[in-house]
Amino acid sequence: MGNLQVLRHLYGEGRTYHIRTFGCQQNENDSEKIAGILEACGMAAADSADHADLVVFNTCSVRENADDRLFGNLGRIKNLHRDRPDMIVALCGCMMKQERHVEKIRRSYSFVDMVFGPSDIQKLPEMLLKRLTEGNKVYAVGSEDPMAEGLPVHRKRRFRALCTIMYGCNNFCTYCIVPYVRGRERSRPAQIILDELESLARQGFREVLLLGQNVNSYGRDLQAGSADFADLLVSAARIVGFDRIRFMTSHPKDITDKLIDVMATHPVIEPHLHLPLQSGSDRVLQEMNRGYTRAAYLSIAARAREAIPGLTISTDLIVGFPGETEEDFLDTLALMDLVHFDSAFTFLYSPREGTPAAMRTDQIDPDTLRDRFKRLVEKQDQHSLASNLSTLGTLQRVLIEGMSTRPGIYTGRTPHNRLVNFTLPDGFAERLPQGTLHAGLENSLAHVRILQAHAYYLEGELEGEIE
Ligand code: SAH
Ligand code: SF4
Ligand code: F3S
Repeated sequence: MGNLQVLRHLYGEGRTYHIRTFGCQQNENDSEKIAGILEACGMAAADSADHADLVVFNTCSVRENADDRLFGNLGRIKNLHRDRPDMIVALCGCMMKQERHVEKIRRSYSFVDMVFGPSDIQKLPEMLLKRLTEGNKVYAVGSEDPMAEGLPVHRKRRFRALCTIMYGCNNFCTYCIVPYVRGRERSRPAQIILDELESLARQGFREVLLLGQNVNSYGRDLQAGSADFADLLVSAARIVGFDRIRFMTSHPKDITDKLIDVMATHPVIEPHLHLPLQSGSDRVLQEMNRGYTRAAYLSIAARAREAIPGLTISTDLIVGFPGETEEDFLDTLALMDLVHFDSAFTFLYSPREGTPAAMRTDQIDPDTLRDRFKRLVEKQDQHSLASNLSTLGTLQRVLIEGMSTRPGIYTGRTPHNRLVNFTLPDGFAERLPQGTLHAGLENSLAHVRILQAHAYYLEGELEGEIE
């Protein structure tokens, strides 16, 4: 990182950057590291690409629409670049690990200055310097290096700190591109993670979100005797200062009773489990290479709910995996009725080039896909609404995330990860010190009386003081 000072004088001081993040929370955490490096070079964030000196697109490849969004946006950047040829354009993230995209960029988007993968972020100062001093375009997408520790991080949110505990994925679910673009699992040593968490708590973050594609296999690639995920959570729970510790994603095939016990005994760990099911059909689950059956999933959900009263369970569901029959799909709906997910992310299957499922000839036709998707969402909406209705009239501790898009309405989450929009009682705003009303309340805790429930959010009113 010795280049940072040089870059500050040569380029950064007084210039601006803009980062667009297309992917998951790990992708966002990567963007925070990119922002950290650029800030350390003396640059400041710009609200949009329109006037920024350096534009970074941190891409995602998990579904086709993610790919499309990048190319749509690049078209716009091409026009900006025509007017401002000094603008530097960098593309990074998961799409850049796929040769066909990199080729397309070389061929059709020659104004792009830098292309790098998720494991190359620490090389950003070196790449930028090369671009500035030698004028060369830099394509650095080959490496599988472990992410460097100690990179500066410019955190985007004040209320939730993201902490990646492991990189990559070993599971090769047959529909999924992630293991190809993110490489094998690499766990960060527990002490390094705990040091980062201590520092986040000292900085005043009330919530931390621990991230990994499968946090339940954390530590398996470290030395024998290293902490597993449950051990890591216990140590994290002992850190003073956090109000809630969250984590995702928990893969059902690797969840342990030890983890459930740890969740049950440490109130600071949120009583919410994101446990992607994907499909309720045993045949489809096997073809997806998920490593569990519907019975196993049901048993985990039952055990977890028994051990952790009030636990909410959210999930990911895919409709239209190749070969999925109406019967398979009905199995998914039936399992949803048994588990009663509190919320779900629902996806249309999207073929990803290079994955085994994409090569199958029995892809589901678009009409069937859409019909099933509609039925799936209808069912989930009923369940989400029923789950949210159970909170009517209760007082919830809401961690404030900021203002909603509607004036006078704040937004935040309950300990069970329910989204709440709430108002302040008459006269309350006038009593707040000046300036605290808007962004100033972010990361504060409010007690909110729940007055209305919808499928995707709750509505309520602040009751009592703000902590
Ligand atoms: N590691 C996590 C998921 C990461 S990707 C896990 O295994 O649970 C987030 C979600 O995207 C997945 O759970 C899956 O539901 C969805 N997804 C992944 N690949 C997809 C594809 N090709 N088509 C549609 N949805 C997909
Ligand atoms: Fe993809 Fe499966 Fe890995 Fe999740 S566990 S990232 S779905 S391969
Ligand atoms: Fe997308 Fe990569 Fe995350 S493909 S979902 S940004 S790991």
